[in-house]
Amino acid sequence: MIVTLANAKGGVAKTTSAMFLAAAWVRRYPTAQVTVLDADPQSSASLWADLIVEQGEQWRGVDVQAANLSTLRRARTQAASQGARDIVIVDAPPQGALLAQSMSVADFVMIPTSDTPLDVQQAWATASALPAGTPYAVLLVRAEPHTRAYRATVQALDEQHTPRFDTTVLKRQEIKQAMGHIPQKLYEYTGVVGELVGVLDQLHQ
Ligand SMILES: Nc1ncnc2c1ncn2[C@@H]1O[C@H](COP(=O)(O)OP(=O)(O)OP(=O)(O)O)[C@@H](O)[C@H]1O
Ligand SMILES: [Mg+2]
Repeated sequence: MIVTLANAKGGVAKTTSAMFLAAAWVRRYPTAQVTVLDADPQSSASLWADLIVEQGEQWRGVDVQAANLSTLRRARTQAASQGARDIVIVDAPPQGALLAQSMSVADFVMIPTSDTPLDVQQAWATASALPAGTPYAVLLVRAEPHTRAYRATVQALDEQHTPRFDTTVLKRQEIKQAMGHIPQKLYEYTGVVGELVGVLDQLHQ
C-alpha cells in the first residue's frame, strides 16, 4: 500500500507526520518494512534520517529514500510485491509534477492541516486536485482543541462531509523537537495508525 502525505500549503507537518507514522507503523507491526519516499526537493525527511544515522542509531524496519518522478512511478510496481503489512509513505512536496505524481501513485492520501479555517481552504484545494476517486482523509495536526479556531475547523470539515481522521494530533513541543530522532513516544500518531489500518484494510477487500 502507498500512503501519500500531501498538502498544497507548506509547513503543515507532512514530514513530521511521515516520520511519526513510520515509527508508529513499525511499533504496531514490528516485522513490517516501512519505506518513506522523500519526494520533496527540500529533502527534510532525508535530512531527518541522516541525523539519525549520524547519532549512530539504526531505525529498524524503516528506510528513508529520496524519490524522483521515476522512483515514484516504480513504487507502484514495487508495492504490488510488498508483504501484507509493508507500507510506502510518500512525503510529497507542496507543488509541481512531483506532487501530482505523489498523489497519483497513492492508494490513500492523507492531507495534514492545522486547525485554522484558512488552512482548511488549502486542504480542500488539495483534495480537489486529487485524481478522481482517490480515497483521502484530512488529518488535523498541531491542533489546540480548546480554541474556537479548532471547533470552527472541525465544523467546516464536517459540514462539507470532508473525510477526516477522528484522531487529532495536538500541538506539542516534544513533537517539534523530534526532528532528527527516531520518534519514541508516538502521541496521537498511534491512534492515527490504528485508523489508517482500518481504512487500508477496507480498501484492500
Ligand atoms: N504536533 C506538532 N506540534 C508542534 N509542532 C509541530 C507539530 N508537528 C509539526 N510541528 C512543527 O511544524 C513545523 C512544520 O512541520 P514539517 O516540517 O513536518 O511540515 P511540512 O509540511 O513537511 O513542511 P514543508 O512544506 O516545508 O515540507 C516544524 O517546525 C515541525 O517541527
Ligand atoms: Mg516537509
